[in-house]
Amino acid sequence: ATPDKITTIDDLKKLAKRRVPRMFFDYADSGALTEDTYRANERDFEQIKLRQRVAVNIANRSTATKMIGQDVAMPLAIAPTGSAGLQHADGEILAAQACAEFGVPYTLSTLSICSLEDVAAASSRPIWFQLYVMKDREFSKRLIARAKAAKCSALVLTLDLQIMAQRHKDVRNGLSAPPKINLNTMTQFATKPLWCLKMLGTKNRQFGNIHGHVENVSDLSSLSAWIGEQFDEQLNWDDIAWIKEQWGGPLILKGIMDPEDAKMALKVGADAMIVSNHGGRQLDGTESSIAALPKVLDAVRGDSEIHLDGGVRTGIDILRARAMGAQGVYVGRPYLYGLGAMGKKGVTKALQIFHKELDITMALCGENNIENIGRHNLIDPNPRLL
Ligand code: FNR
Repeated sequence: ATPDKITTIDDLKKLAKRRVPRMFFDYADSGALTEDTYRANERDFEQIKLRQRVAVNIANRSTATKMIGQDVAMPLAIAPTGSAGLQHADGEILAAQACAEFGVPYTLSTLSICSLEDVAAASSRPIWFQLYVMKDREFSKRLIARAKAAKCSALVLTLDLQIMAQRHKDVRNGLSAPPKINLNTMTQFATKPLWCLKMLGTKNRQFGNIHGHVENVSDLSSLSAWIGEQFDEQLNWDDIAWIKEQWGGPLILKGIMDPEDAKMALKVGADAMIVSNHGGRQLDGTESSIAALPKVLDAVRGDSEIHLDGGVRTGIDILRARAMGAQGVYVGRPYLYGLGAMGKKGVTKALQIFHKELDITMALCGENNIENIGRHNLIDPNPRLL
């Protein structure tokens, strides 16, 4: 697809594949191990069938709603994705700006390339910040204080990465920091000269939230070694309570797939939780997030807002998730494809695609307002997705 002919998220994906060095495109595109869960996330949405209604006045429509009490132009936020600044130079800054202009939240990863200070300063809307709890708790504490100082309006605490799952493509492509120099990797860069030129033109090429904030960690290889050893295998619910205390603002817990975990999340006082399997990048062999959603909703019984991510590729999927009971969804790869394809314009394009599809789908369900979407819009109000 050429830029003027883009009408779907898949078109953006194809264009990104042409423009981004293979190791970074594959890094975004792949899932863990056999990629079974990654595929299930997308596939299961298709089993949720919507009721078509006719002869309803649908002339006055709105997709606007709230997520954790904050206004959103549609029930969609951008998921935190590490190294987004490698899909396109200054990637996180450009994506956050596109989101602010559209009126949806941008969640910045702990492992972003641009620093949280730079992204927050460039965005006219407060960003959300995603935290990985590092073994170095003093670092985590300082990072939370920095997120507060930068006026981030929610903390998304990710719980499903105490250990990093394997992704075979990353190994095959020689993805490492800094990239290995051999014929394979040199070809990957040499065939994408525009990407290289833009990357050489920015100072943002390190992990901006970490670089300069940890002693003895300066260049890219010591940075990535530090990150690799900092994921905390001992993380537990007491630590989560400690994070909540440090932060003091709206807290969203990410990676809740199980009803028992949902109950624990309620106990520590989460304002919202994200039903997520990390986009099929962590526990391969678990169910799709949309299949897990009803169990989490049952466990929580309205005591916390429930969000979902994983496999959302169309506006139809947003409506399906909302009809099933999620207050909102997040998208990871779709916005990364947009970013890799066309920078800020590509992220805006992805948001426009989602919005247009959502609006038309809602209308053809005979609904004017996203707030009124519910199980009554489903052919089978309790679809079996396993
Ligand atoms: C992620 N995800 C992720 N999550 C998180 O909490 N912190 C992170 O740094 C990252 N990094 C990351 C990188 C890349 C390249 C991807 C694709 C994903 C997971 C992400 O927030 C989200 O859960 C999934 O992307 C949702 O699935 P979809 O929308 O990509 O299908």
